[in-house]
Amino acid sequence: MKVTVIGAGNVGATCANVIAHGDYVNEVILLDIKEGTAEGKALDIWETAHINNYSTRVKGVTNDYAATANSDVVVITSGLPRKPGMSRDDLISTNAGIVKSVTEQVVKHSPNTIIIIVSNPLDVMCYCAFLTAKIPSSRVFGMAGILDTARYESFLAEALNCSPKDIQAVLMGGHGDTMVPLPRYTTVAGIPVTEMIAPDKLNAIIDRTKKGGGEIVNLLGTSAWYAPGAAAAQMVEAIIKDEKRIFPCCALLNGEYGMKNIYLGVPVKLGKNGIEEIFTLQLNAEESKLLTDSAAAVKEVMDVLDGMKMF
Ligand code: NAI
Ligand code: 2OP
Repeated sequence: MKVTVIGAGNVGATCANVIAHGDYVNEVILLDIKEGTAEGKALDIWETAHINNYSTRVKGVTNDYAATANSDVVVITSGLPRKPGMSRDDLISTNAGIVKSVTEQVVKHSPNTIIIIVSNPLDVMCYCAFLTAKIPSSRVFGMAGILDTARYESFLAEALNCSPKDIQAVLMGGHGDTMVPLPRYTTVAGIPVTEMIAPDKLNAIIDRTKKGGGEIVNLLGTSAWYAPGAAAAQMVEAIIKDEKRIFPCCALLNGEYGMKNIYLGVPVKLGKNGIEEIFTLQLNAEESKLLTDSAAAVKEVMDVLDGMKMF
């Protein structure tokens, strides 16, 4: 099995590193446009193989797509990250061009691959890659929900002084401040979270989750990478091992939740065919309204992409 990670920056290199440590693929190719960056980071990762007891060969290349040929999964992380004061949506003018050109090369060399988008603005970059790749949407989707849910779970674990391993949550919608954490679908070892935490504390955690990306941007001056890289790697693992895991991912909706032709975070089943099922939850009126509002925010950025006349 072979996985390619495009973009050897903070998220891409972290993702390649986590995949290699999992030791479930033969080869990880790390590709970047900056001469030497992917080669150097891949070599550094590969030099940990003996220490960390894995065999996955990690190789770096500068813009050499021939080396990515016949990848089973490709993770696209290339593009600008946010700086303080920027929203994810401000990145569209630069990142749409990058995602389009990268996706063209990816499908040319790996026509049967599954593509996981990470570049922001996430939901619209998925749409951009889908329009470019011209392959079924079950093979083009995005990582955000696992990250946003993991943030929500980590904040809850801290507030409840319990292990994050025992928290199960569902978070839907776009990867932006309108994302929709769902307390009604959040449990702690099977116990509804609402029985364990006061409403005002839960609301504060939900608010912090929605702004979780910005919290790190303000601390670091750029966006997060450990959790995003690990989240994308978890999706790769589910696909490569055909695990049929259920995760929130950014998927193209075709009638689910009454929406069509829009990428949005929803619970899906991930296996060797990519997205094998999209689950439609019975949302109540308040939850449905939040999801519709989130979709409207994504649609606004989709309109910016349309206005760029790239397709
Ligand atoms: P970074 O700046 O550390 O790395 C980006 C890399 O992409 C750079 O090494 C750059 O040389 C490379 N690159 C640019 N154009 C390229 C091209 N045409 N071909 C190949 N490589 C190219 O940025 P970082 O922190 O790794 O973030 C990457 C992207 O992921 C950003 O758009 C960021 O907003 C997004 N992101 C998304 C998250 C999510 O939840 N979906 C979470 C965190 C980041
Ligand atoms: C994050 O949520 C900025 O999308 C990036 O960390």
